[in-house]
Amino acid sequence: MIDWDKRGLFSDNIGNAGITIGELRDAVALSGQKLEYLRAHRADIASFIGVLDLPMARQSRIAADSLSFRPKTLVVLGIGGSYAGAAAAIHALRPALDPSPINVIFLPTVDPETVKPVLSGIDPETTLINCVSKSGRTVEIMALYGIFQHRMQAALKDAWKGHFIFTTDPEKGYLRKIARETGVKTLDIPPMLGGRFSVLSPVGLLPMYMAGIDIDAMVEGARSYMAQERPWAVLSAAAHKLLMDKGKSIRTLMTYNDSMESMGQWFAQLWAESLGKRRNQAGIGQTPLLFQGSRDQHSLLQLFMEGPGDKVYTVLRTAGHRADMQVPDGALTDQDVSDLNGKYLSRVFDAEATATTTALMQAGRPVEVLTMPELNAESMGALFAHFMLETAITGLLMGIDPFNQPGVETGKVYAHALLGRGDLHDTMTALQEYAAGLVDFEEDKP
Ligand code: PA5
Repeated sequence: MIDWDKRGLFSDNIGNAGITIGELRDAVALSGQKLEYLRAHRADIASFIGVLDLPMARQSRIAADSLSFRPKTLVVLGIGGSYAGAAAAIHALRPALDPSPINVIFLPTVDPETVKPVLSGIDPETTLINCVSKSGRTVEIMALYGIFQHRMQAALKDAWKGHFIFTTDPEKGYLRKIARETGVKTLDIPPMLGGRFSVLSPVGLLPMYMAGIDIDAMVEGARSYMAQERPWAVLSAAAHKLLMDKGKSIRTLMTYNDSMESMGQWFAQLWAESLGKRRNQAGIGQTPLLFQGSRDQHSLLQLFMEGPGDKVYTVLRTAGHRADMQVPDGALTDQDVSDLNGKYLSRVFDAEATATTTALMQAGRPVEVLTMPELNAESMGALFAHFMLETAITGLLMGIDPFNQPGVETGKVYAHALLGRGDLHDTMTALQEYAAGLVDFEEDKP
C-alpha cells in the first residue's frame, strides 16, 4: 500500500505556512462525510468508484482477444481523460514489460508534424486503431479518425473495420453512430463516468491490457485502496482544502521516477479540470505544477525555495528501483564529489529526493511525501484511486461539482464554430466580432 508522510504539512514542523494538527483533526469529520456521500452514490455521480463494481477488465480483455489479427502497433486516438490515464500507466510500467508485446502510440494532438510520421509509419495489416471519445465528437479525435480511417480503408478495403475499436458512450455520439452503421467493435464508457475519472474503465484498461499490463492486478489495487474504511485520501483532501484556504494556490507534484512523468500529466488534468470552477461568480481552484526530479531541481527549485509561498508540494517516489548501477569505486578523484565513489545510482537518486524534501520543509514550505512500495500494476491502481478520491472529496469540500467541465466544453464548441460548423454560425459571428473589437498597444511615433 502507498505510504503517506504528512509531517511536512504541519506548522509544528515547518512554521506558519503549515496547518495545525488540531485543524486537521477538526476538518476530517466533514471530509469523512464526503467519502460516505460518494460511496452512497457510487452508481451515479461517483461512478469512478462504481466502475470498480463492473466487469470492465473482462470486457477489455474480450475485445482485445477477439481480434481477427495479431496487432503489432496500437494507435490510441484520444485526448484529455480519454488518453492520459492509459499513457500514465503504460509509461510507468513499460520498463518492466521488456520486451513490450506491442508498440503503443498515443496521439493526443492534431499537430500535423506529429501525426504525419505516425500515419505514414504504420503498417495497416498489423495496426489496431483505438478511438477513445466519450462524447464521440471531440474535434481532434474526429479529425484524426477521418484521416486514419481513410488510410486504413485504402489499404485494407472492407477489412478496415476489423482494425478499429471505438471506446465511447453506449448510446450517444457520432462514433456510436458509425459503429452501428459499420459494425466496428465497441467498448462502452459508463454514461455517468467523466473522462478524467475513466482510467479504470475500458478507456484505460484496453490499451493497458494490450501493452501487457496485468489489468486485474491494477483494478484490484484500486479496489483494495477503496475498500479501506478510511483511505488516506480522506485526510489528505482535508489537508489540501485547509492549505488552499491558507492561500496555497498552486499544488506541485514532484515525481521522482522518470517513468512517472506521464502520471504527473494525468494528475494535472484531474486536479485542474475537477477543481477549477466558478462558485458564486468567483473563480476558485488550485493550479497544478509538475516537477520531474531530480532534473527540475536544477530549474524550478530556486523558485520553490525562495519565491512566493503560494505552493504546496506532493513528492511522489518509490521505495524500490527496478534497475540499478554503481559508480565505480575510485572513479572520481576530486574531493568535492568523492562521496559518489562506489555509490549506486538508486541511492544517489533517493538522496536527491530526500534532500529536496528536507530543504523545502526547512524553508517553511508544506510538503507531503507519497511512497509507492514498488512500481507495479497493483500500486498504480491504488495510486489512481487515491488521486481520484482525493480530488473528488476536495471538490466537494470546496462546494463545487468536481465531475463537470463547463469551461472545456466552451473551448470545444468554439473550435467547431471556427471550423465552420453550420449550426454554430452565430457563435462564429460573435467570435469574429469579439476578435475585431480587441484593442492593442501601439507605441507613439516620435
Ligand atoms: O475529463 C474530461 O471530461 C475531458 O478531459 C475529456 O476526457 C476530453 O475533453 C475528451 O473528451 P471525449 O472523451 O468526449 O473525446
